[in-house]
Amino acid sequence: MSFFITFEGVEGSGKTTQIRRLKKYLSRKGIPCKVTREPGGTRIGEKIRKILLNPEHREMIPLTELLLYESSRAQHVQEVILPLLKKGIVVLSDRFADASTAYQGYARKIDLKWVEKLNRLASFGIKPDITFLLDCPTNLGLKRALERNRRVKNEKEGRFEKEQIEFHDRVRRGYLALAKKEPERVKRIDTRQGEEKVFEKIRGLVDELMGLKKIKPGSHRETDPTV
Ligand code: TYD
Repeated sequence: MSFFITFEGVEGSGKTTQIRRLKKYLSRKGIPCKVTREPGGTRIGEKIRKILLNPEHREMIPLTELLLYESSRAQHVQEVILPLLKKGIVVLSDRFADASTAYQGYARKIDLKWVEKLNRLASFGIKPDITFLLDCPTNLGLKRALERNRRVKNEKEGRFEKEQIEFHDRVRRGYLALAKKEPERVKRIDTRQGEEKVFEKIRGLVDELMGLKKIKPGSHRETDPTV
C-alpha cells in the first residue's frame, strides 16, 4: 500500500500540527509513513529553501522564484518521494505542486499554463492521491503565522509573511479554485472548526482512501517528461 498525501493552505493554517497527528495515527495502525516538505525535503532542497525564504532577497523576480521551487521539487520527487512510494511507504508532504499554482500562478501572476507545465515536469508524472487544503480567512491565518514567527524568532523565513494581505488573498483564491477544479483530490477543510474536528475529517478521508484504494508498491507510474 503506498499513498502520496499532501497538505496545503495559506500561512498559519495549522498544516504542521495536522501532519504530525496523521503520522502518529498511521504509525499506530502499523502503516509505515514518512513526513517531508517543500521547499526542502532533500539536502539540496533545504539549501534552495534558505534562498527562497530569506527576507533579504527582496530583488528575487517571480520567475526565479518559480524555477527554484520547481528545482527543489524535481530533486525531492526523484530522491525522496518516488523511492519511498516504491517501497510501499506512505508519503506525507507539507506542500507540493499545488503551492506553485497558488503562490506563483495566482498570487505572483505567472501564466498558469507555464506553472502547470513546470509542475508536471518537476513531478515526473506523480500526483497526490489526496490533498488536504486547510483553509481559513486570510487575515486569521496570517495573524497566526506572524505570532508563530515572533514566538520562535524565525527571522530567516519571513519573506512570504511580509507580503501584503492582497497577495495572500490571491493565494487563497488559487487554492479554492484548485479545490473546485479537482474536488475528488483536493479536500477543503475549514480550520475554524478547531484542531480536533479538522483532524477527524482528515482521518475519515484517509481511512476511506486507504480502504477503498489498494495500490501495490511500485505501481505509481513514473514518466520522464524530458524525453
Ligand atoms: P511552508 O514551509 O509551508 O511555510 P508555512 O509553514 O509558513 O506555511 O512554505 C514556505 C513558503 O513557501 C510558504 O510561504 C509558501 C511558499 N511556497 C511557494 O510559494 N511555492 C511553492 O511551490 C511552495 C512549495 C511553497
